[in-house]
Amino acid sequence: MFWRVKPLDQILATAEKKSLTRTLGALQLTMLGIGAIIGTGIFVLTAEAANKAGPAMMISFVIAAVVCALAALCYAELAAMVPVSGSAYTYSYATFGELIAWIVGWALVLEYAIAASAVSVGWSGYMVALAEEILKVDIPNTFVKGPFDDTPGLINVPAMLIGLVCMALLIIGTKESARFNAVLVAIKVSALALFLVLAIPAINGANFEPFMPNGFFAKEVIDPISNNMVTVGVAAAAASIFFAYVGFDAVSTAAEETINPQRNIPIGLIGSLGFCTVIYLLVAAGAIGTIGAQPGGSLAQSDDALAFVLREIGHGWAGDLVAIAAGLALPSVILMMMFGQTRIFFVMARDGLLPGVFAKLHPKYGTPHVVTMCTGLFVALFAGLFPVGKLADISNSGTLFAFFTVAIGVMILRRTDPNRARPFRTPFYLVICPLAAAGCVFLFFQLSGYTELMFLGWALIGLVVYYFYGYRRSNVARGVIEVHELDADSPPVPVPPMPGAPTPGPNQA
Ligand code: ALA
Repeated sequence: MFWRVKPLDQILATAEKKSLTRTLGALQLTMLGIGAIIGTGIFVLTAEAANKAGPAMMISFVIAAVVCALAALCYAELAAMVPVSGSAYTYSYATFGELIAWIVGWALVLEYAIAASAVSVGWSGYMVALAEEILKVDIPNTFVKGPFDDTPGLINVPAMLIGLVCMALLIIGTKESARFNAVLVAIKVSALALFLVLAIPAINGANFEPFMPNGFFAKEVIDPISNNMVTVGVAAAAASIFFAYVGFDAVSTAAEETINPQRNIPIGLIGSLGFCTVIYLLVAAGAIGTIGAQPGGSLAQSDDALAFVLREIGHGWAGDLVAIAAGLALPSVILMMMFGQTRIFFVMARDGLLPGVFAKLHPKYGTPHVVTMCTGLFVALFAGLFPVGKLADISNSGTLFAFFTVAIGVMILRRTDPNRARPFRTPFYLVICPLAAAGCVFLFFQLSGYTELMFLGWALIGLVVYYFYGYRRSNVARGVIEVHELDADSPPVPVPPMPGAPTPGPNQA
């Protein structure tokens, strides 16, 4: 019974009716990816990577990018084949059955909601440092750091506030226009470009030595900053910096709107991941080369890594500009992550795996306000308590698990359902899928033991919830097969962060 699947034909009935026009080309897809990818990872977690890997964090960026590229090629096949909401959750329902689908959906809470918390904390780090810089004051940690931070406070109020503001925006249904999103992408990329222009000429080769102070594989050492045990090494930093690439799934998900997806999806994926990898490597080189990146050093301790570097090398004004850019652009990443979360909860509730109240829509705004409120409070709670690095790691654990199931799912469906139309096929799938799955497993086990335990604890809670709720109440359990994409009251899907992109879905504004 645990293995009951939701028939793919039923799921696809939706997709056929949706029939979106194919308008996206390779360049637009690449831009879509870049817009979705750049965020807290590069702006903030560069410090975390320095603390784990030292200058060799440059290798970590490449490893994370390769795993993402492999996973993305698998994700794209399922996204094109089953183009309905719920992403990995829906694919798993059709492939592995309800139990695994539930666990994947439950893990996606980590991916999306905890990622939103992480970006909120990253935003807070930049804004607090900027306020200190402008007001020339030292703000005490009490209300700007959570109790689990290396330099603990009581609660991170700014991080909670930005999470709650994003929640409110989603409830009243503020849709970012494609143009507005394009402006935010331009702001993010310009800030990184400004950083490069000022940092690259100031690079001193000596700062790259010693290059790999903590070795390659993850190991536990005493953190020079907090005196707590931390997991360090190049691979451990890769598992953390993986966060900087999350968001590329936006390209895979756009498969059904893409002209000639077999050609353009890989170009869009590899193009956006490649572009971000090159930019990230240059930014990392700039940060390392200018002020050094040894574990426990000043970069490793900064909350606003890129602005901090610019201030340290005498460009305070540019540091402030980069901080303002982060302040403007990062909330769009929070919105995107929270939106993804509400959409998955919504689909799960309509499948009967969560209480129906989660699928309720606001009478005036037409948004799933109950689920958005729950998500917002969850995001704010975690943002208030945990530091950005731990949140990003926990989010990565969920994402890696979801991508692992997707990679395996592609192989299973090729066997069990070989004749189904696949607008995009993973090239050399017998090589790419196992490599993607292995990459996800490898990175998962390079995360800290603490993160793995959190993941396990979360999965166990999920199993208990499933046993007492979804197992008995799911629609599939009751023999009801529904597809909700076309429900007249189905809430809209997000506007892709790019200019001129079509807005998918049957009832879009
Ligand atoms: N890649 C996104 C970021 O770094 C999640 O914020």
